[in-house]
Amino acid sequence: MRSLVRENHVSSSHLVLPLFIQEGPDSETPIASMPGVSRLGINRAISVAGEALALGIPAVALFPALGDETKSVRAEESANPDGLLPRSVRALKRAHPDLLVITDVAMDPYSSDGHDGLVQDGRIANDQSLPILAAMAVAQARSGADIVAPSDMMDGRIGAVRSALDEAGFSDVGICSYCAKYASAFYGPFRDALDSAPRKQAGVPGDKSTYQMDPANVREALREVALDEAEGADWLMVKPGLPYLDVVRAVRGATALPVAVYHVSGEYAMLKAASQRGWLDYERCLLESLLAMRRAGADIIFTYGAIEAARVMNRR
Ligand code: PBG
Repeated sequence: MRSLVRENHVSSSHLVLPLFIQEGPDSETPIASMPGVSRLGINRAISVAGEALALGIPAVALFPALGDETKSVRAEESANPDGLLPRSVRALKRAHPDLLVITDVAMDPYSSDGHDGLVQDGRIANDQSLPILAAMAVAQARSGADIVAPSDMMDGRIGAVRSALDEAGFSDVGICSYCAKYASAFYGPFRDALDSAPRKQAGVPGDKSTYQMDPANVREALREVALDEAEGADWLMVKPGLPYLDVVRAVRGATALPVAVYHVSGEYAMLKAASQRGWLDYERCLLESLLAMRRAGADIIFTYGAIEAARVMNRR
């Protein structure tokens, strides 16, 4: 009887698997603060993506880990058609034409300052960042990305990315806007993974709170929804996940667009750490977390636990 009256479901078809990619096609570098997650060379990423597809996970989200020698103030590498990310997208789409490939649009993996926008005179230069982000999105689309996902939180970037994509002939490429992205301490392990934390040096803002949202705010998220929707977003995202389910609920009520939620690196790390000590049952806590996100109104869930969750769900 319970299955008849159950109000919400989560299945592998709702999940997106984030992947950290690095140079060295067969390389694999574990991330200390994310047990079970590694930075992967492209051949390894192709095989993990194949495993995800076979489990019914339709999509991956790619994040490149670059060496310091490729990083610069203006993040030029982000528009290089032969850079790590475009090469990886081409190889993944060649290996798995049915895999949905989502790419992150933000300067941080490429920025020597470790910020999502351009640092000028000790501040984030919002408007000067837009052409850099737009060129990055076009390079990603040209390499075969199906959806570009601006996570930078600059004002006006959805409109700038949309018009640049359209002008370059990529009107079919969608935009997943990280529209309610909070200035969260739960991103710590991700910044370890990419070595992308804001740099501690004079003239570089020490955190991202001038452009990411204040964790105290929810009305502001609805303003971001309205702006990003008007500028042409196709999906809207709330991030982090579990601590922000009230925001997921509010965003769900404010838009007819698909709503995504990002179960972020710190949330994953907490579950892994507690389960390694025998304090929590990882699989059950993971599935309960994902179900709670669906109950709050999320259509799509980005989670590092996608493969583990899909295995459990397919076993049932
Ligand atoms: C960067 C970006 C971040 C995440 C996704 N894209 C980190 C940040 O804003 O500093 C975090 C994801 C996670 O913690 O899992 N633009």
